[in-house]
Amino acid sequence: MKGALFISLLLFWVSLIWARPMQLSHEDDPSSNVVDVMEFGAVADGKTDNFQAFSTAWAKACASTSPSSLVVPPNKLFLLSPVNFTGPCKSPSINVKILGNISAPNEVSMWKGLNVDRWIVFDSIKGLTITGTGQIDGQGSVWWQCRLEKTCLQAPKALYINHCDDFQMNELKIINSGEMHIVIDNSVGVQISSMTITAPDNSPNTDGIHLQGSKQIQILNTVIGTGDDCISIGTNTFNVNITGIVCGPGHGISVGSLGDQGPAAVENIFVSNCTFHNTMNGVRIKTWQGGSGFCKGVTFKDLIMDSSDNPIIIDQYYCGDFNNCTSETSAVKVSDISFMDIRGTLIPRTAINLSCSKSVSCANIRVEMFI
Ligand SMILES: *[C@@H]1O[C@H](CO)[C@@H](O)[C@H](O)[C@H]1NC(C)=O
Ligand SMILES: *[C@@H]1O[C@H](CO)[C@@H](O)[C@H](O)[C@H]1NC(C)=O
Ligand SMILES: *[C@@H]1O[C@H](CO)[C@@H](O)[C@H](O)[C@H]1NC(C)=O
Ligand SMILES: *[C@@H]1O[C@H](CO)[C@@H](O)[C@H](O)[C@H]1NC(C)=O
Ligand SMILES: *[C@@H]1O[C@H](CO)[C@@H](O)[C@H](O)[C@H]1NC(C)=O
Ligand SMILES: *[C@@H]1O[C@H](CO)[C@@H](O)[C@H](O)[C@H]1NC(C)=O
Repeated sequence: MKGALFISLLLFWVSLIWARPMQLSHEDDPSSNVVDVMEFGAVADGKTDNFQAFSTAWAKACASTSPSSLVVPPNKLFLLSPVNFTGPCKSPSINVKILGNISAPNEVSMWKGLNVDRWIVFDSIKGLTITGTGQIDGQGSVWWQCRLEKTCLQAPKALYINHCDDFQMNELKIINSGEMHIVIDNSVGVQISSMTITAPDNSPNTDGIHLQGSKQIQILNTVIGTGDDCISIGTNTFNVNITGIVCGPGHGISVGSLGDQGPAAVENIFVSNCTFHNTMNGVRIKTWQGGSGFCKGVTFKDLIMDSSDNPIIIDQYYCGDFNNCTSETSAVKVSDISFMDIRGTLIPRTAINLSCSKSVSCANIRVEMFI
């Protein structure tokens, strides 16, 4: 009897010790470090550049030896010029809480001497979370304009996530990026959820989320409507689960284009429970002639196409915007692709277009579509 009581007390004590770290979230952790940009001189007048304040606050959050948070407070608007928040950090995890709004400069000149290709970069940070109900505005119209006039070739991607393993982002609203809204590059273990991403349907190359060089990725319950792909998947991308996306306007969800930058490698992509409204395409795999490598194990399942011009496409003759490709015999090998339970509400222009290479033809393609 005594022995049993001792053992159950011991178990209780052991379970207390084990349970403690589990109960503490980063927010409750008394040793966590909360860094508010306002304490570093941020000015929320929408005109003052907050590059310095945000950079100094970042340095503090990054140097913390315990989990830390960088806070952008609510009901405020912060102008922010191009910035690269770089790790590695001492802090085992960092939560960037964007509760207020952040806006890019609406002047091309602010990128002078910098990489025009990106606005806000997070690089080499493990355990980064970006959350909050704030809005990130890329002020893209100046860039769309100069691209149309051909006075600029590139435009900034709003959020560029590079080498960030165990990355999470949710709730935020990202609008009007100069180019792609979110790029995930060279990262392992990514979860993006409950986001809203919007830009006008005529804004060039404003993809919602672009993945490349990354694996173990989940994108869920997100609303995306832009001038290009809602989600695009580039090379060296593996194990992606995309579900609960409401897409449109835009060009749909696509794998590619592949094969124009060395051998392609894409495998195990699962897209399910998505709705497409007024999109040019639905789901698509596009590869360049003359490419090599593979794209295999891609499933598109349980999708609703509400007026999409071209719901299902495999195009091994993809040729970019200039349409000046020469005929080539090699191609990216496309295999084990399923389009299952895809429903259309309107008669599309071309319901299914499988344009497979004459030399390296697509293999094991399964299509089930209902109109
Ligand atoms: C922040 O953006 C939201 C839209 O997401 C807007 O309703 C709100 O007025 C903005 N607040 C400020 C302070 O700019
Ligand atoms: C960010 O800055 C670091 C350090 O200067 C640089 O090595 C890295 O390439 C930058 N990252 C991006 C994505 O521009
Ligand atoms: C994809 O994610 C959803 C939502 O978390 C989950 O229910 C589903 O099992 C996942 N599918 C795969 C193939 O991982
Ligand atoms: C399907 O996606 C919608 C968002 O369009 C989401 O609300 C719903 O929970 C998802 N259903 C399942 C079974 O995951
Ligand atoms: C197609 O045109 C673009 C733009 O003029 C050029 O950069 C590219 O090299 C051309 N490609 C071929 C195969 O001629
Ligand atoms: C199918 O796609 C190919 C390759 O892009 C294109 O040349 C062809 O016109 C398309 N067919 C239809 C009927 O849309």
